[in-house]
Amino acid sequence: MRTHFCGLVDEALIGQTVTLCGWADVARNLGGVCFIDLRDHEGIVQIVAEPGDAPGNAEVIAAAEKVGYEDCLRITGTVRRRHAVNAKIRTGQVEVVAEAIEVLNKADPLPFHHHENPGEDIRLRYRYLDLRSADMQRKMRTRTKLVSALRHWLDARGFQDIETPILTKATPEGARDFLVPARMHPGEFYALPQSPQLFKQILMMAGFDRYYQIARCFRDEALRADRQLEFTQLDMEFAWVDERDVQDTVEAMIRDVFREVAGVELADPFPRMTYAEAMRRYGSDKPDLRIALELADVAELVRGCGFAVFSGPANDAGGRVAALRIPGGASLSRKQIDEYGAHAGKFGAKGLAYVKIADNGEISSPIQKFFDEAAFSALLAHVGAGNGDIVFFGAGAYATVSAFMGAVRLKAGQDFGLVEDGWKPLWVTDFPMFEWDGEAQRYVALHHPFTAPAVDDEADLRANAGSAVSRGYDMVLNGNEIGGGSIRIHRSSMQSAVFDLLGIGREEAELKFGFLLEALRYGAPPHGGIAFGIDRIAALMAGSDSIRDVIAFPKTTTAQCLMTGAPSPIADAQLAEVHVQVRAQKTGEAD
Ligand code: AMO
Ligand code: AMP
Repeated sequence: MRTHFCGLVDEALIGQTVTLCGWADVARNLGGVCFIDLRDHEGIVQIVAEPGDAPGNAEVIAAAEKVGYEDCLRITGTVRRRHAVNAKIRTGQVEVVAEAIEVLNKADPLPFHHHENPGEDIRLRYRYLDLRSADMQRKMRTRTKLVSALRHWLDARGFQDIETPILTKATPEGARDFLVPARMHPGEFYALPQSPQLFKQILMMAGFDRYYQIARCFRDEALRADRQLEFTQLDMEFAWVDERDVQDTVEAMIRDVFREVAGVELADPFPRMTYAEAMRRYGSDKPDLRIALELADVAELVRGCGFAVFSGPANDAGGRVAALRIPGGASLSRKQIDEYGAHAGKFGAKGLAYVKIADNGEISSPIQKFFDEAAFSALLAHVGAGNGDIVFFGAGAYATVSAFMGAVRLKAGQDFGLVEDGWKPLWVTDFPMFEWDGEAQRYVALHHPFTAPAVDDEADLRANAGSAVSRGYDMVLNGNEIGGGSIRIHRSSMQSAVFDLLGIGREEAELKFGFLLEALRYGAPPHGGIAFGIDRIAALMAGSDSIRDVIAFPKTTTAQCLMTGAPSPIADAQLAEVHVQVRAQKTGEAD
């Protein structure tokens, strides 16, 4: 149909006849001379239809005059040097003088044009129009290049790409499962994999040594800018390794791929930090190191103050009182300070105390009254507060304070322009093995139940479960968790002990994971691995705030596909076939 791509017509083609196919990006009629910007996946080239003596010229002009936005056109013409060079586009030195214009498909008036931003709902409803924009084409191309570079890297090093089932049994990664009714087994269900975790472990037991898969994962969880119901992992597993083997290999891979795809040189080696240090200094297990602000612990200095909200946690082993100094923060108005309080509230804060020191040294603070002068000065000196600063304080349970002060730190980083340019990778290691779930009155796995504890001995683990550290690790980039993995448990007895500590009884463990416990007994080698969030890495590389921009057909935050209308009701007959009956939802039952 065509001889060249629109976006690649260049000076070398001057004088030649070309046939191009594309969409009419813009069409202008300047009194007898018509200009059409013809666009394909490579870019745009200017077409001119001008009066001339050539046979058929009148038809060409008549056709050009009728061209509308996004009409599909096939145009033949001669390439010539352009008078007014357009430096903004690759083809800006040339234009094509039309000799034939064929309308392959006339477009209806558009709901929006991709030069506008009509809001994400409209973009997702007409995703095909949205994806036509140069920006979305570039973002999707980045994703393609990323996946291709990863595959090349892994293929060259002997990793074997193996597919694992989509219709499977539940694999716990901390989210709800998507269930698929099994027509041939009334009342039974498959689960879509939250990740290929157990299959990849079993592949190591099956002798494959090094595996990878670009794997679709399904998790029924609350959606956010960096979370989708279905997303893509680069999933990897290695046999006969310890954590440094895995980390060193994948760190080199990520560095190489960032260089190749994004032209970015990441630190070598990546810095490393324990989970405890990350929480203490940044209030997060995925700290954004581009922001230099750090939390300071002030429990020692507020133990004896008259404010019970502070002195309580300061005297409690499970409590925390943390301060965050924001240089220049005294410019915050009362309303803005309240906004910080509200932001902290979303992360569990009951309040957010502050001390504001104006440029002239004048102090405003709702907590100054609880301190004597010396103690107050000592507190400010400890956090290094001076004129022009604001210091925020958080007090309460250790995890809660860390979470909301970490959130305040990120907001301050954004608001005060303190996010440095560049790329800050980080390994976070030494995660706690378990977290205590007060509501359920039991431990939950911080990573997943197959992660090995640092201790080798089951009795030791049982005796010190609350403080046990795991052999898990996360890779963090600019405050995003881009990958997570661990060394796995490879002995059946340890796996049973961990299930036990997680409150998974023997019978339940047998029912859900019997195949794993069994496989571990037949010579399972030490093994470990990691999975990277492809969508997150692609979004970072493409400079997008949301992974929706690098997924062709993403779901909204309300878990819907606005283009197809999924999810949608199913007819009773079809439900009956799979032995499912829909129960009317009682009020208040939705979550
Ligand atoms: P984890 O649950 O940490 O580990 O997932 C690995 C990586 O996948 C990405 N990710 C997501 N991306 C988009 N939407 C989501 N809902 C979502 N959830 C996770 C993140 C994350 O770092 N089986 C283990 C890996 C292992 O232990 O080897 C696992 O899935 O970037
Ligand atoms: P109050 O005396 O209750 O008005 O509180 C004094 C200040 O302490 C207010 O600025 C509150 O926002 C703040 N505050 C209350 N609870 C906490 C908390 N848990 N951590 C930090 N500040 C708090």
